[in-house]
Amino acid sequence: MRQKIAMYSLIAVLSLARLSAFATEGMWLPQLLGRLNEKEMKGMGLKITAADIYNVNKGSLKDAIVSFGGFCTGEIISSKGLLLTNHHCGYDAIQKHSSVQNNYLDKGFWARSMQEELPNAGLTATFIVRIEDVTKQALEGVAGNLTESQRQSAIDKNLNRIKETAKKEAWQETLIKPFFEGNQYFLFVTETYKDVRLVGAPPSSIGKFGADTDNWVWPRHTGDFSIFRVYAGKDNRPAEYSADNVPLQPKHFLPISLDGIDANDFTMVFGFPGRTNEYLPSEAVKLTVDGQDPARVSMRDAALKVIDGFMRKDEQIKIQYAAKQASTANSWKKWIGEMQGVRQTGGIRRKLDYEARFQQLVKNNAEYQGTYSGLLDSLNNLYKTQAPYAIARDYYTELIRNAEMLGFANSAITLLQETRLKGEEQYETLKQAFLAKVKPQYGNYNNDVDREVATALLDIYFKEVPSNKIGGEAYQIWMETNKDGKTTANKMYSQSAFTSYDKLAAFLNRSFKTVSADVWKDPATRLMIGLRNGYIDFVNKPYDELQPEINRLQRRYMAAQMEVMKDKRFYPDANSTLRITYGKVNGYAPRDAVKYDFATTLDGVMEKYKPGDYEFDVPEKLRELYAQKDYGQYGANGKMPVCFIASNHTTGGNSGSPALDAYGNLIGLNFDRTWEGTMSDINYDPAICRNIMVDIRYVLFIVDKFAGAKNLIEELKLVHPKKAKPKVTPLKKAA
Ligand code: ARG
Ligand code: ASP
Repeated sequence: MRQKIAMYSLIAVLSLARLSAFATEGMWLPQLLGRLNEKEMKGMGLKITAADIYNVNKGSLKDAIVSFGGFCTGEIISSKGLLLTNHHCGYDAIQKHSSVQNNYLDKGFWARSMQEELPNAGLTATFIVRIEDVTKQALEGVAGNLTESQRQSAIDKNLNRIKETAKKEAWQETLIKPFFEGNQYFLFVTETYKDVRLVGAPPSSIGKFGADTDNWVWPRHTGDFSIFRVYAGKDNRPAEYSADNVPLQPKHFLPISLDGIDANDFTMVFGFPGRTNEYLPSEAVKLTVDGQDPARVSMRDAALKVIDGFMRKDEQIKIQYAAKQASTANSWKKWIGEMQGVRQTGGIRRKLDYEARFQQLVKNNAEYQGTYSGLLDSLNNLYKTQAPYAIARDYYTELIRNAEMLGFANSAITLLQETRLKGEEQYETLKQAFLAKVKPQYGNYNNDVDREVATALLDIYFKEVPSNKIGGEAYQIWMETNKDGKTTANKMYSQSAFTSYDKLAAFLNRSFKTVSADVWKDPATRLMIGLRNGYIDFVNKPYDELQPEINRLQRRYMAAQMEVMKDKRFYPDANSTLRITYGKVNGYAPRDAVKYDFATTLDGVMEKYKPGDYEFDVPEKLRELYAQKDYGQYGANGKMPVCFIASNHTTGGNSGSPALDAYGNLIGLNFDRTWEGTMSDINYDPAICRNIMVDIRYVLFIVDKFAGAKNLIEELKLVHPKKAKPKVTPLKKAA
C-alpha cells in the first residue's frame, strides 16, 4: 500500500514535469478574456484581440457560434446562414428524414439547391447577444442565515425581477445561470432561430466511421460532420418555419483556413460545454472513480454484453437497438476512461495535495481561520456519508434504465400516482399521453433481449446493493423467486402485461380502480413498486437530506478557494453556457512506451478498412479518390488529413464546436476526447487530456470531391493565413 502511494506521488511529480509553460486547463467566459486570458493567449500565439472574439458593439467571433438544439454546438460558415456541426449532433434529424428507400444515414444526403433543404421541427440555433454580470442584483437581500430552500426562493424572486427589467428586443430572450456554485450569476440575452434545415450529411461510413470501437479513441479517422442552414423571417429575425423564410444573414461567419495545422499551433475551441465538476473535494472524486463509475460500468457491461450478442445475430434487433446501444455504450466507455485516467495520473493524490495547500493557507491567516477552518473536512465528511446512497442510487437508475420493462412499469406507477393526485377524471387524458410516449419505445423493444438484460442486472443489483437499501417489499419478491435473476425475470416476462404495447394498452384501458388494483398482481409492477418504495425511503430520502448542506458547503468551499488561492486563476464549471478554451496542437504519451502523434490521414482510414463491416466499411467513391490521390486543394504533401488533437479543455456539449486558428479562422470541428483524458470533467491533466477534431480540410474534401456539392463550397470563404504571411524579413536591412 505504502509503495503504491509513493508510486502515485512519483507519477504526480512526473506529470507536473511534463506540464508545459502554458496553462491549457479552463473553459473561460468570453466576456472576461481581456481581463483574464488575453495575455497568455497572445503568448501562446493568438494573433487577434479579446475584443475580436467577444464584442457587444460590433460583429465578433461569438456571433458565428450557436447552441445547436441545446445539446451541441454549431458555427455559421457562410453569409447565407450555412451551419456546421457534427454528424452525431445531426443524427436524429438525419434519421427522421430517412426511410428504407431513402436511408440518409446509410447513403448520406446532399441538397443540390436551397429548395431541397429539409426542415426539422423543433430544431433550434441559439445565438448569444450579450452576457452581463448580475451577481449583485441576484444576491440582493439574500441573508446568510437562510436555509438552502429559503435562499433559493429569495434568489429566484431576484432573478425574475432582473429578467423583467433586462434590456432586450421583443424577439430576444433572457436566461440567468449560477456560476462558481452559486457565488456568481450571469444574464444571457439570446436569439433563438427555429427554422434550421438539413443541407448535407456524409454516409455513416464516413460520419460515424469506426462507430463504437473507435469512440473516445485516438488515433481516429471519423468525418463526424453534418451541414444545416439557419433560416429567418424576411426581417432577418427568428421566425417559426415557413416556406417563405430566407437564409439568415449572420453578423459574422467563420472564414475557413486551407493551410492546415502543425505541431504546437495555437488553437481555440468556442462552444457550449455541458457539465464539469472541477472543484470537488477529494472524497467526491474518490466516490466518482472508486464507487459510482465502477457501479455504473458493471451494470452497463452486463447489459451491453447481452445487447451486443443479440445485435450480432439478428438484423432486426440490430436496427431496433442501434441508437440505444450507442448511447449506452458512449457513457459506459467514457466512465471506464475516467477511472483509468484518474488512477494513471494520480488524480486523487493531486486533489489531496491541493487540499493540503488550501488548508495550510487557511491556517496561516487568522481571518481565513475564523471563516474557513473545518470547512473542507466537513464537506469531505458529507460526501463520505452520502457515498453509499449515491452508489445505491446509481445501481437503481441503471437497473430501470437498462431493463426496459422495469422502466415502463416505473412510468406506469407514476401515471397512477399522478392520477390519484389530479383526480380520477384525469385518468383518460394522462393515460393517452403515457401510451403515446411509450408506443415508439416499444417499437424498439424486444422481450428476449430485455429478459436477458433484466436477468443479469437483477443478479448484480440484489448482490451489490445492501438489503437495507432495497427494502422489505422488493426483497420479499426476490426471496419468493429463489434469489435468482433468471427465475424473477422468467416470471415477469411470461406473465406481465408489459411484454408488448398492445397488452399494456389493454391493461391500462380499463377503469382506474381496476388498474390500480391489478398493478399489485402484475409481476413487473409488483416488483417495481417494491423496488421504488425501498429506493425512495432508504436511498433517495437520505441522499436528498444531505444535498442542501453539500450544496451550501460546496458554494463556500468555492468562494474560499477563490479567496485563499491568490495565485490561481479560476474558471467556472461548465453549465451549457458559451465558453472559450485554448491550447496547442500536440500528441501525448498515455502509457509507458506509448506515444501518439497529433494528426491522422486517409491512409489510416484505409488501414482500418474492413469490407462490409458495420463499423469499418469504406464507401467505394472514397476508396477511388484515395487510389487516385485526388485530394484537390485539400491535401497536403500527397496525403489527405483527417483528424487531429490538441490540448483544448472540452466536454460533452462541445461537440460541433469550431476549432479556430490564431486568427479566428476555422481549422477543425471538435467531436470527442481521447479515452484517458475523459477524466478532464473532474480532474484535468494537460499531460494526457486532448480533444479530437475533424480537420476542416477533410470536411471540405468530402463535400467537394466525394459528394460533388460544389454549390456549398462556393458559399464559403476559404483563406490562406499561413501562406499569406510574408516571409520573415531581416530586421535591420530595410530602408
Ligand atoms: N464520444 C463522443 C461524445 O461523447 C461521440 C459520440 C458519438 N459517436 C459514437 N460512435 N457513438 O458524444
Ligand atoms: N462527444 C462529446 C459531445 O457530444 C464531446 C466530448 O465529450 O468531448 O459533446
